[in-house]
Amino acid sequence: MPKFVCLPGDGIGPAVMAEAVRVLMAMRFDFGEYIFGGVALNQENKPLPVDTLNACRGAEVVLVGAVGGPEWADRRPGPEQGLIRLRKELDVYANLRPAVGNGVDLLIVRELVGGLYYGGSGVLEDGRVFDTCVYTPAEVQRVAQRAFEIARSRRGRLMSVDKSNVLETSRMWRAVVTSMAPEYPDVELTHGLVDSVAMQLVMNPQQFDVLVMDNMMGDILSDVAAGVTGGLGLAPSASLGDSGPGIFEPVHGSAPDIAGTGKANPTGMLRSLAMALEYGIGELALARSLEAAIDVALERSPTPDIGGEATTREFGDTVLANLEVPVS
Ligand code: NAD
Ligand code: IPM
Ligand code: MN
Repeated sequence: MPKFVCLPGDGIGPAVMAEAVRVLMAMRFDFGEYIFGGVALNQENKPLPVDTLNACRGAEVVLVGAVGGPEWADRRPGPEQGLIRLRKELDVYANLRPAVGNGVDLLIVRELVGGLYYGGSGVLEDGRVFDTCVYTPAEVQRVAQRAFEIARSRRGRLMSVDKSNVLETSRMWRAVVTSMAPEYPDVELTHGLVDSVAMQLVMNPQQFDVLVMDNMMGDILSDVAAGVTGGLGLAPSASLGDSGPGIFEPVHGSAPDIAGTGKANPTGMLRSLAMALEYGIGELALARSLEAAIDVALERSPTPDIGGEATTREFGDTVLANLEVPVS
């Protein structure tokens, strides 16, 4: 089984993944590519074919480009359900979404395999439609534990984000996180309500270190955090469980508005690969060397979303030209 399983997916997914694959080749890693998302729906009528899931289970690292697009907007299950199921199958409950830039250095820890995305939904005969948010205390505890540990290794500040003035799940969330604080005397824990935290992220994002929140809130606030640090093209993520492969994917989607134009910024994907090297397989030197090469490309070959004119491929060329692969 290859160490890396690559799922390029849809829209700009294949274009940004191609640059990650060139880096994997330069680093001489084994990898395999599998169909996933809309492209898998077209070929096999399933967003997450069995071969793809089995390859992911046997991998050390799963890299995802992006899935979805207007072509499959009315399909059920759609491409996005494939991603939601893959995360659950691998039980990658802690989704780390760093946002760095413009004087900001924060990390959102998003619960990824519970809450509103997984609590069950339905359409009733009387016309009512519902999605249910469910959490167990154990699900909150394990992701909060990750967040406390990460906060301890950074600037020691953790904000737990919820809607405890309204939601029962949030009241439990806050109680569980609060009860854990004495185990982490070196971490300063605060709580924030999600609506005002959204405003604070826009007005004064420099104040934040680590934030932990549920699945849906983390989805939304991680796009906000990306927006205040240079845009979606730059934002990476790492999704980790207790064991088994992690999933590493950019925060952005398939960007149908620019798919096929060569305008996609591969930074989010390449930084996700750097997170895979660091958190997935412990290759810290390779991760740092990739990050340094990305920084050079951001300077010398910026893509249109960040005010430049370089294509996805030209950005990747600059990364590869500046990649110093340490000999081990
Ligand atoms: P999106 O993130 O695809 O795009 C939002 C905006 O950001 C667009 O203007 C796009 O051009 C721009 N953008 C995104 N990534 C960029 C990049 N790398 N370089 C330059 N510009 C970039 O969000 P959307 O348009 O709301 O969603 C499109 C589709 O993607 C939907 O089907 C959605 O479900 C799916 N989606 C998938 C994922 C995923 O696979 N992880 C994540 C988010 C959205
Ligand atoms: C993300 C995406 C996904 C999510 C979708 C495509 C299922 O928006 O990873 O941020 O909501 O988790
Ligand atoms: Mn999202």
